[in-house]
Formats: sequence, C-alpha cells, structure tokens
Amino acid sequence: MTTAGELRVDRTPLAPFGTLVTAQHDGADLRDIAPATLERWTIESKVVVLRGFPLLSREDLLTYCETWGEVLTWDFGAVLDLVVQEEPKNYLFSRTDVPFHWDGAFARAAPRYFLFQCVEAPVPGGGGETVFSDSTDVIRRASPELVREWAATEVSYRTEKLGYYGGETVSPLLTTHSETGETIMRYGEPLDPERYRNPVWVSVGGRSAEEAEPFMVDLRDRLHHPDVCYHHEWADGDIVAVDNQALLHGRNAFRGNSSRHLQRIQIL
Ligand SMILES: [Fe+2]
Repeated sequence: MTTAGELRVDRTPLAPFGTLVTAQHDGADLRDIAPATLERWTIESKVVVLRGFPLLSREDLLTYCETWGEVLTWDFGAVLDLVVQEEPKNYLFSRTDVPFHWDGAFARAAPRYFLFQCVEAPVPGGGGETVFSDSTDVIRRASPELVREWAATEVSYRTEKLGYYGGETVSPLLTTHSETGETIMRYGEPLDPERYRNPVWVSVGGRSAEEAEPFMVDLRDRLHHPDVCYHHEWADGDIVAVDNQALLHGRNAFRGNSSRHLQRIQIL
C-alpha cells in the first residue's frame, strides 16, 4: 500500500537522450517529486517526460515551480497557453513548424528550465511534435576549428513585438551552462517572412547575408541531425521538463486540422 508522499516510478531512457518517468501507482502527484530531484533529472537527461501524473491546475503548477526557482512572468502572467489559433499574429500559434530556438532570447533573462503540461495532444499522426536538439552533442561532433569559429561568433535577432515578446537582442553563439559548466549553443534559426507570421530576422556578426548563408546552412544540418534530436510525440497528460540551456527546441508542423493545447511555464 502506498501512503501519501511515497512515490514509485519507473525511469526509462529515451533516444537519443531524455528520460521517461512513469508513475507506478495510482495517486501519484508531480508535487511528490521534490523540485531539486526533478532539476537533477532534467540536468542529467536534458528532457524528462513524466507520465501517470495528473495535470496540476495553473495555480498549483505555479506554486510547484516557484519552489523550484524564480518563475519568469510576461504580459499574460506565468503560464502560457500554447494553442492553435485560426488567425494568429505570431507563428507559435499557427499550424506551421517552429524552427529551433532557445526560450527567452527576448526576455530579461533566459530561463534555465521550462515545463510543459499537455492538456490536449494532437490526434495520432497529427504532427505538432516538439523537437529537441542537444547542442552539447552538436558541439562535441564539430571540429576544434569550427568550435573556435563558433566561439568567436555573435548572432543578432530582431522581431516585431506582435505577440508577447519582441525587440532586438545579440547573443554569443556559444556560452556556458550555468549548472554543468558545459559549452552550449544559443541559436535561433531564421524565419522566412514568406512562411512565418511575425518572423525573426537573424544576422551573423561581421558577415554579409551571402557570407552568412553557408554558415547557417551548415548549422541547420548539424542541429537537425537525427542523432542529436529527440522528437516528442505528445500524449494527453504528459508533463515535460526541459533543460533550456543544453537544448534548442522547435516544433513540427501540424497535419490535417489536428490541434493541441500545451501549458508552459519557465524557470529562471
Ligand atoms: Fe520555445
């Protein structure tokens, strides 16, 4: 018999990285996992998928995350509802794919972690998978010369504030993970204004657009290599914790008229 607060879970590796944590008894609750434990698992695995834990209310989710760290707030508050909109101002709420980026490029500080709750998953085959790219592995696979070139590169981003974020920002392409000391990559892929609403304009420091093109194509190929990417296919009730420093993330396009509702919260 399981008493309140006692937690039995199964932990299974995902490929090529990540861990699936499945509750092994009824009555399991996310709040039975100490935030310090969830943080350790997230650092170790980069992405943690929790199943068998009932979703928390927005208030309870916020309270839980506030015991983990400072929660990033925006105009809308702390919990973002990611839903498909029929006439979105911004591509995040459209049916298109979402190119790789890290969360918080335009925030006062980038969150160390973010957490999703899946209120409603797309129908099977409906797309909308979240894709994570392990930038630490991308760096490990690159030649020392290329890593030196990356380390000397700054990238600028500009977007109009039509959604909840926007402005201009500059970031070194490589930086250091605050918790592990590993070298990580901070990169947002450019968004073609023909395809995406509210695109992000990207310029690579010191390079003309023509010179930047092969540099960005090479980066794209490395970041999208199947060996460094975990594709998360959503199921109702999934709770997913993400290391926003080691990983970049994006989304596959939705297929047909499938929909999805995620709630996201970010931890500084
Ligand atoms: Fe994001």
